[in-house]
Amino acid sequence: MRYIMAVSLTTLRDCKKRGEKFAMITCYDTIFAQTMNAAGVECLLVGDSLGMVLQGHSSTLPVTMQDMIYHTQCVARGNSNAFLLADMPFMSYATVNDALNNAAALMRVGAHAVKLEGGAWLAETVQQLVRGGIPSCVHMGLTPQSVHVFGGYKVQGKTADAAAQLIADAKTLEQAGAALLLLECVPSTVAAQVSASVSIPVIGIGAGKDCDGQVLVVHDMLGLSQGKAARFVKNFLTGQDSIQAAFSAYVAAVKNQSYPAPEHGFN
Ligand code: KIV
Repeated sequence: MRYIMAVSLTTLRDCKKRGEKFAMITCYDTIFAQTMNAAGVECLLVGDSLGMVLQGHSSTLPVTMQDMIYHTQCVARGNSNAFLLADMPFMSYATVNDALNNAAALMRVGAHAVKLEGGAWLAETVQQLVRGGIPSCVHMGLTPQSVHVFGGYKVQGKTADAAAQLIADAKTLEQAGAALLLLECVPSTVAAQVSASVSIPVIGIGAGKDCDGQVLVVHDMLGLSQGKAARFVKNFLTGQDSIQAAFSAYVAAVKNQSYPAPEHGFN
């Protein structure tokens, strides 16, 4: 029997300490989980982006806890060695009690940690989750569940004040016990400052190469998404002869820091 060491939070923290980058891809079913495992993808995210790429909605807001539980179960069955992060959908963490009950439901079906969108206001929730044995990742910057507050999918953290707020929030959340942070669509220099300000791993999407890990939506990185691709998206299937090879190419590019290139980031 071959013993495969599963990726844990300790693995990801050690990566940050060593300066080794790690790769995450969104995943919604068993066969993709197995294929990502075979390609060496360290982290799988059952993202509420499934509302857009699987269900055809124009935002992530209609996604329910039932949807997230079903897809987390499907991914967990196929996953043997990656760290499995599951999204908490819109309004499922509106109160600390809601957060505890809904996060527990995701952990029971195989998640290793849950992801919530917000800032320092989530500190108490993060603290209670960790007390209950549930690690959390806080998604900051462009948080798609707040698309109507932002008035569209817009780059965040562009002013000096907004950048300082992101750094302050990151420190507060680390102190509250957050295990990971995720930064979406923030200027690369701001993301680099956030990552340098905390000792927990910071994962980026449209946040430049200085984050500790990178994440992409699987349909985007396979060139399947329709319409104009976001600036940070790269099609890793181009030039490869299989989906597994595309995942391997992505892992290699994240590790050798050829992805994201400067043109994938925001200034
Ligand atoms: O839901 C999702 O897929 C995400 C990624 C965009 C990071 O949160």
